[in-house]
Amino acid sequence: MYSLTIHAGSVESQVAVGESYRHLSKYLPAGRQVIVITDASILKHYGDFFSAWPIIEIGMGEKNKTLDTLAHICNRLLEYNADRNSFILAVGGGIVCDVAGFAASVYMRGVPFGFISTTLLSQVDASVGGKNGVNFGGYKNMIGTFRQPQFVLCDTAMIKTLPEREFISGFAEIVKAAAICDAGLFGYLERNIDQAIARNREVIRHLVVKSIKIKAAIVEQDEREKGERRILNFGHTFGHAVEALTGITHGEAVSVGMMMAARRSVAGSGFPESQLERLEHLLTKLGLPVTTEARPEDILRTLLKDKKRESDAIYMVLLHEIGKAVICKTPIEELENEG
Ligand SMILES: NC(=O)c1ccc[n+]([C@@H]2O[C@H](COP(=O)([O-])OP(=O)(O)OC[C@H]3O[C@@H](n4cnc5c(N)ncnc54)[C@H](O)[C@@H]3O)[C@@H](O)[C@H]2O)c1
Ligand SMILES: [Zn+2]
Repeated sequence: MYSLTIHAGSVESQVAVGESYRHLSKYLPAGRQVIVITDASILKHYGDFFSAWPIIEIGMGEKNKTLDTLAHICNRLLEYNADRNSFILAVGGGIVCDVAGFAASVYMRGVPFGFISTTLLSQVDASVGGKNGVNFGGYKNMIGTFRQPQFVLCDTAMIKTLPEREFISGFAEIVKAAAICDAGLFGYLERNIDQAIARNREVIRHLVVKSIKIKAAIVEQDEREKGERRILNFGHTFGHAVEALTGITHGEAVSVGMMMAARRSVAGSGFPESQLERLEHLLTKLGLPVTTEARPEDILRTLLKDKKRESDAIYMVLLHEIGKAVICKTPIEELENEG
C-alpha cells in the first residue's frame, strides 16, 4: 500500500493506493453516521460489502452529473436525518465522486466526506484534488466547489471489474500527467504498454501512484487553479468541447483534445514533430482516439461559447516537449479569427 497526504490550504487529505475497500473501517471517523452514495454498477459488484449502511443510489453516466441529482441526494440525506455529524462516503468513478463530493460540500454548508475511487480515471485524477461539481446549461463542471475529501481509497483490485472502454479511458489522464510533467512516466508507459493494457496489477499500481503524485504536487501549490494547476487542463480545452459534441467518454475526449493541443504546440511552442508522433503512437496503441468526427469549426464554436463565460482569453496548455508544458494566454479574439 502506498499512502500520501495532500496538504491543501489548512486541510489534509489522505490518499491510499492499493488499499482494499474491505479495510474501509480504518479510515472512517468514529461515532458518525455513515451514508454511502454510489451507482448500480458498483452495487452489482460490491453491494454486499456496503449493505450495512444507508445507500443513496444515483444514475450512471455523464447525463446524471446534474443539479437534479444533487437535489435527489439532498432529499435522501434529509430522509436519513443527515447532519454535520454525518459522514458521506462516495463509492464510484468520477461521476459519483464529483456529484457526491459536491453534495457533501453544500449540504448544511458542508459534511465531511471520503471516496472509494473505483475507476482507473478517478484513481489517477478525478478523485484527487478537491474539485467537485455538476454540469449546467450544457457546460461541463459549471457549478461546483473546491473541497478536499478526508480520504481517497484507490483500491487497484477494483479495476478488474471495470468495463474495457472505461478502463482504457483512464489512460488518457495518465498520458496527460506524463506529457505535462514527467517524461520518465511517459517512457515507462511506452515500455510497459502491453502489461498495462492487460491490467497487470504492479504496472497499474505504479501508474496510479505516479499520476497521483504529479497531481498532488500541483494541487498543493495551487489548490484553486489560479496559475500552475491550469496545466492539468492539457487536452481539456478542446476535449470538453469534443465530449459535449460527441458524447464519447471523458478520457476519450481528453485523448482527442491532447492531440489537438499537441498539434498546435508544434508551431506554438516548439514541440518537435517526432514527439508529436510519439504521443499519437502511444494513444493509438492504448486504443484511445486521436481524431474526431466533430468538425473543427463546431469544436471551436463550442469551446469559445464555453470560455467566453469566464473571460476574454483562454489559458491554452501547450507542450514544449514531452514532460514539459507551457501555459499560453490566448485572446479569444485570436481564436475567433481562426474559425
Ligand atoms: N474532479 C476532477 O478533478 C475530475 C478530474 C477528471 C475527471 N473528472 C470527471 O470524471 C468523470 C468521468 O469519470 P469516470 O471516467 O470515472 O467515469 P464514471 O464515473 O462514469 O464511471 C464509468 C462507468 O464504470 C462504472 N464503474 C465504476 N467503477 C467500476 C468498477 N470498479 N467495476 C465495474 N464498473 C465500474 C460506473 O458505474 C460507470 O458506469 C467526468 O465527468 C469528468 O469530468 C473529474
Ligand atoms: Zn479530465
